[in-house]
Amino acid sequence: MEVKIIYGSETGNSETLANDAKKSLSASGIDAQVLDMQDVKLSDIKEYKNLILITSTWGDGEPPSNAMDLHEELTSASGADLAGLNYAVFAIGQSFYDQFCKAGKDFDSSLAALGATRLAEITLSDDDFDDTFPEWIAKIKDLLLK
Ligand SMILES: Cc1cc2nc3c(=O)[nH]c(=O)nc-3n(C[C@H](O)[C@H](O)[C@H](O)COP(=O)(O)O)c2cc1C
Repeated sequence: MEVKIIYGSETGNSETLANDAKKSLSASGIDAQVLDMQDVKLSDIKEYKNLILITSTWGDGEPPSNAMDLHEELTSASGADLAGLNYAVFAIGQSFYDQFCKAGKDFDSSLAALGATRLAEITLSDDDFDDTFPEWIAKIKDLLLK
């Protein structure tokens, strides 16, 4: 089974989680690949079967800079191009911001609007992601292997 793990990250937190996700999935024989969102377009995602998207939020609810182009492309797209794609979003941020995890929420709703299927509801994580992420990726791995 192939899984693409794409991350939006300004200071490396989401990138680290993406690499942790790869380690966890690879340990169970899943062919997982980590990609910087800067290098991913909607046309690439159309070819994926399974997607894990991990992103932070910056500014006042903005995506990190490496995720801006894909965010723009996905939020302005329409149609059901992503039918057949399974995905899950892990969003990190800080809950004292008004726009808590907004970039992750935008990606999650855009993927659904384009016809993709959620493996699980979006998870929003504050600075405690080191505690919540291992549990989350274990759950997603179970859902992928079902
Ligand atoms: C200037 C600044 C703006 C931020 N804006 C938001 C925000 O609007 N919403 C949110 O949930 N988190 C916000 N954050 C928190 C980051 O998302 C959080 O620190 C995250 O762990 C960064 O992960 P990264 O290293 O993968 O980019 C902001 C942080 C900074 C420093």
